[in-house]
Amino acid sequence: MLPKIHIIATGGTIAGKSSEKGYVAGKTSIEEILSAVPELKEIARLDFEQFCNIGSQDMDETIWLALSKRVDSLLLSEEYDGVVITHGTDTMEETACFLNWTIHSAKPVVLVGSMRPSDALDADGPANLLVAVRGAADVKNAGKEVLLCLGKKLLESSEAFKKDSHEIDALGCVPPDFRAPHGKNFGFDIRNENVLPRVGIVYGYGGASTIPLQAFMDAGYDGVVLAGVGGGNFYSPVQRLAEKAVRMGMLIVRSTRCPYGGVYTLGGEVDDLKLGFVAAGSLNPQKARVLLMLALTETRDVEKIRLKFQGVN
Ligand code: DGL
Repeated sequence: MLPKIHIIATGGTIAGKSSEKGYVAGKTSIEEILSAVPELKEIARLDFEQFCNIGSQDMDETIWLALSKRVDSLLLSEEYDGVVITHGTDTMEETACFLNWTIHSAKPVVLVGSMRPSDALDADGPANLLVAVRGAADVKNAGKEVLLCLGKKLLESSEAFKKDSHEIDALGCVPPDFRAPHGKNFGFDIRNENVLPRVGIVYGYGGASTIPLQAFMDAGYDGVVLAGVGGGNFYSPVQRLAEKAVRMGMLIVRSTRCPYGGVYTLGGEVDDLKLGFVAAGSLNPQKARVLLMLALTETRDVEKIRLKFQGVN
């Protein structure tokens, strides 16, 4: 018997339709999308649900929590061998990491998107969907991280990031990092969580303003990820304010706006151990934010949060 795969549709360009000015994400139903790829029936038995129909710029913590709980309960049932989630590409890496760190099953989970709307001449959604369903139906992908599918490729969530805002092959890949938080033994139990701690991102640049960080502090945020320059460095006034934030009980994670290389406590210019910062390792700022929100559901202890960023439960 063919494997049984459940498809959860959330929107994105894969469900987009052309408009006069460009296109609108999240316009086509999952029935319509699936009917364009009859070959899927030869790979798996499928059922599906329309979870939401949005551009992924509108993904948020509330949807992530609900989606994670839904996928977890589907995969805990004997009925399903894997799950495919259609998703916009803008924030696909964040949703993938969230699910990777919160789903308790080893069965394959694949997020799939497209860079051209469903009615474009060069629509890439159908071929990606085929690769995604094949990936979710393949037992060789059991135990792997949550996967992302774009450009007819499958990439693991800790490595994949959106590198291109236009081209069809829009996902880049950082080299695997054995120190990064991944693997099915690492994760969080969010089944009883209804809201997540508040974590913001502050971008670094020459002459950076302290206003964004101060605003997060004034609003009582639990944590901030600094998307620093180079190896996680900051314009001095921002760093001094971050030191003050730590003294006031905020968790500060240092990451980098560079796509490659990461930020580590040893060998850099900032003394994390003395100043109470956490280094993001190879996680980019948006993935580090997801991890910090999840870590803060368990602890506010900086040492324990450092361990989470090294993949230690
Ligand atoms: N707004 C975007 C999103 O849903 C469209 C980009 C895409 O899906 O590729 O993420």
